[in-house]
Amino acid sequence: MDMENLHVAIIMDGNGHWAEDRGWPRSRGHRAGAGAVRRVVEASPRLGITTLTLYAFSADNWRRPAAEVATLMALFRNFLRAEVGACRREGVRLSVIGRRDRLSPALVRTIEQAEAATAAGRVLNLRLAVDYSSRDAITAAAALHQGAVPSREAFRTLLAHAQHGDPGTPDVDLLVRTGREQRLSDFLLWECAYAELLFSSVLWPDFTGEDLGAAVEAFHRRNRRFGSVPEACAAGPERETAAR
Ligand code: IPE
Ligand code: IPE
Ligand code: MG
Repeated sequence: MDMENLHVAIIMDGNGHWAEDRGWPRSRGHRAGAGAVRRVVEASPRLGITTLTLYAFSADNWRRPAAEVATLMALFRNFLRAEVGACRREGVRLSVIGRRDRLSPALVRTIEQAEAATAAGRVLNLRLAVDYSSRDAITAAAALHQGAVPSREAFRTLLAHAQHGDPGTPDVDLLVRTGREQRLSDFLLWECAYAELLFSSVLWPDFTGEDLGAAVEAFHRRNRRFGSVPEACAAGPERETAAR
């Protein structure tokens, strides 16, 4: 398999259904979802993934019942605290994109500590999207800009600044959404301009490293064109004619 520098983004959906299918409270699904996060992080390096962006909590998820929101926030904090040591050892650089002003000061501190402790990681750039809205990030980036229409590259930098991101992060190559829905739910709208989309019916708590491997394999079978024509055609007679 090609060892490319892949950027894979995952909408980790289906925790609620997973729990409801078992007659359990939704919070149990969220807790089980943390196990799937560990599995995909572990599997990523051998699949050629160097950037992994996980959608953990959308700006619209504040609409959920307060108790569910509290469970999710506690899970993030526990996850960061529990995983920072392993991330450091494995060369995983952890960062969090999205707004921070609505998170608790304790969670913000934990995020900052995890980011600082793992900043030297070079094996995998693991980005968690928390209180994230792609539309809000795009409008915030637009507000940072003054003057004539910026180039795509210049806007990419503004967008990174608007969401605590790193301007060096490449566009998304493969977007996976688990669960039963097929929509983007305000995730990485700019960054996914040419992403391959893959919808998996596996519910997030059941998602394994093998499922991620199958998704990456399916990605390698896709024919990406970026608006051009397939390589075979580009190398064919038309190009020769044009060159003459
Ligand atoms: C995704 O699972 C986790 C978050 C949105 C935080 P859901 O809780 O949305 O699960 P479903 O969609 O109800 O199954
Ligand atoms: C998207 O899932 C957000 C996350 C997975 C964190 P939702 O479950 O919130 O999305 P909708 O409401 O079904 O679009
Ligand atoms: Mg959902």
